[in-house]
Amino acid sequence: MKKILVIGSLNMDIVIKVENMPLTGETILGRDIQYIPGGKGANQSYSAGCLKGDVTMLGCVGQDEFGEAILNNLDQAGVTINQMKRSTDYPTGTAVIYVNEAGDNSIVVVPGANGQCNSAYLKENDSLFIESDYVLLQMEIPAEAVFYAIRRAKQLGKTVILNPAPAPEAIPEDILNYIDYITPNEIELARLTNTSCDKLDDIIYASFSLVERGVQNVLVTLGERGALLVNDNGTEHYKAVKTDKIVDTTAAGDCFNGAFVTALAEGKSEKEAVLFANTAASISISRAGAQRSIPSREETDRLLEVKFNYS
Ligand code: RIB
Repeated sequence: MKKILVIGSLNMDIVIKVENMPLTGETILGRDIQYIPGGKGANQSYSAGCLKGDVTMLGCVGQDEFGEAILNNLDQAGVTINQMKRSTDYPTGTAVIYVNEAGDNSIVVVPGANGQCNSAYLKENDSLFIESDYVLLQMEIPAEAVFYAIRRAKQLGKTVILNPAPAPEAIPEDILNYIDYITPNEIELARLTNTSCDKLDDIIYASFSLVERGVQNVLVTLGERGALLVNDNGTEHYKAVKTDKIVDTTAAGDCFNGAFVTALAEGKSEKEAVLFANTAASISISRAGAQRSIPSREETDRLLEVKFNYS
């Protein structure tokens, strides 16, 4: 089992169930409010931990109850958190999430302490870069920290996975050359390439444009249409694992990323890793909440065996 380093955000999710999303200028009544540990970085570490990856996380929370609760949750999932930063000046990041009846969500993040996950802090923890084999990042911490981490990880010969969420306006051209896997959804891919990504052909075209610019592999998560892997060898479309009920899609992409890196770190092939990630993500959407929805290794292996006849 190789070592995974996740660098990213930690938020307390304030999840409000609504019948329909509020329109601009509209006041609506919510049905229920819950506080659930989240943040894309924390969700991806949590997913890797639950799926039995050897995972360490770097990120920053405040000296408050939310921060404490999120760190405890990660610890319980087996994520190594002993180099996590605690800010005295900023509160833990929070996200307000509306989830409608179809399980779709709208999210507003207030980064708070996540803004303190900067390159100076990452430099202090260089030994974790050296020890790791896979470095997984998202874009909810300062961009300068993400780009520093990618350059440093590549200098050390590590495998770099970037989940470009939320999608930045631009990624420096040299950074594209250092990314082994970029894992956008269609919306993020459209923003990154400045093209429309409505149809599968558009998505393939946009993905190839990133490959031409230097990214090794573009792995697009397509929700109920599965996932698409595009690289120099061509394209491979993996169907989604069907679920009977969609309750909440929050963190499905995070679950996918954590599962994908765990499978690679175990030595699974790319194809096996995508099937494993699709399977874990399909379980996560049948449950409410971010980290609360992420399945165990046993559940994922069981479903993998039922659907694909292997574990
Ligand atoms: O990807 C889902 C996550 O996005 C939520 O947990 C929320 O905190 C935001 O970071």
